[in-house]
Amino acid sequence: MHLHSFKLVLLNQIYYSLLLVTISQIVHTSHIREICEKRDIFFEPFRCQLYELDVLDESITYLLYDVNPSEGFNLRRDVYIRMAVFLEFLRTQRGYRRAKLVLPPWSNLVHWRSHNIDQTHLFWNHFFDLKSMKRYTNVIDMDEFFTEYERLHGPETGVMLDEVYKLKHFENMFENGVFVDKFEEHVCPKSHDYDAGASSLTYFGYGNFSTEEFTCLHFQGSAMLLHKLLETYKPQRLHHARYVLVLNAEIVLHDLWGNVDYWEARRSMRFASELIEIAARF
Ligand SMILES: *[C@@H]1O[C@H](CO)[C@@H](O)[C@H](O)[C@H]1NC(C)=O
Repeated sequence: MHLHSFKLVLLNQIYYSLLLVTISQIVHTSHIREICEKRDIFFEPFRCQLYELDVLDESITYLLYDVNPSEGFNLRRDVYIRMAVFLEFLRTQRGYRRAKLVLPPWSNLVHWRSHNIDQTHLFWNHFFDLKSMKRYTNVIDMDEFFTEYERLHGPETGVMLDEVYKLKHFENMFENGVFVDKFEEHVCPKSHDYDAGASSLTYFGYGNFSTEEFTCLHFQGSAMLLHKLLETYKPQRLHHARYVLVLNAEIVLHDLWGNVDYWEARRSMRFASELIEIAARF
């Protein structure tokens, strides 16, 4: 009788220990979202266990974006929230479950007047706690993007994007008095962004971006409409990765300003600890 209950207690303890180990693994791995291939499941089962096999067959969509150059810090933060909430939704959709948002670096904003400080290509981790942002959704800084790109395509190759969409408001936003979500191609005006002959692209003053396709769109609607856009222009044959850049992302509206997703994304934008330290000294 005694022996029996002792066994039970022991079994119970083993059971709970196993449960704890499992939970700690899940908690641990859910923060680490790296490129996991099928072979990684074999070699590093814990890091990759959260991916289902069919997810690994999906290509990785790298979603890059930029905001109208004349816009300042606060609007850029706001556009980030729209994009981050969208990405978190996108990652629940078949074909996009490995999507990542690539953060556009901060470069010489018009409001930054000091000329004695180098202000080109500042990454987000300069201002924000990137780890905290990654806990909300899968975002990477530009330098991480270059590292991943070079791992897939070799170093110093330049970045070849698959698609670029330059957004613009419709001329008449309330046709017949109603606002409907829609997008429509239009002929690209002459611009300095893109040289069709060389297919090279001016992106943040990086000299090594080019693109296969450059499409100009009238766009009106929320970030969710970007999902339709990605589906509409999805290439027939998907490669390992799809690189998409959205220019003038400030045209894209919030899905629901101030809802739970909005605040979660917003809360994740904590300032970098170095900045907090400096602020504390004042
Ligand atoms: C593109 O240029 C940037 C800045 O010069 C560099 O850091 C990056 O490694 C380059 N990437 C590729 C893929 O050539």
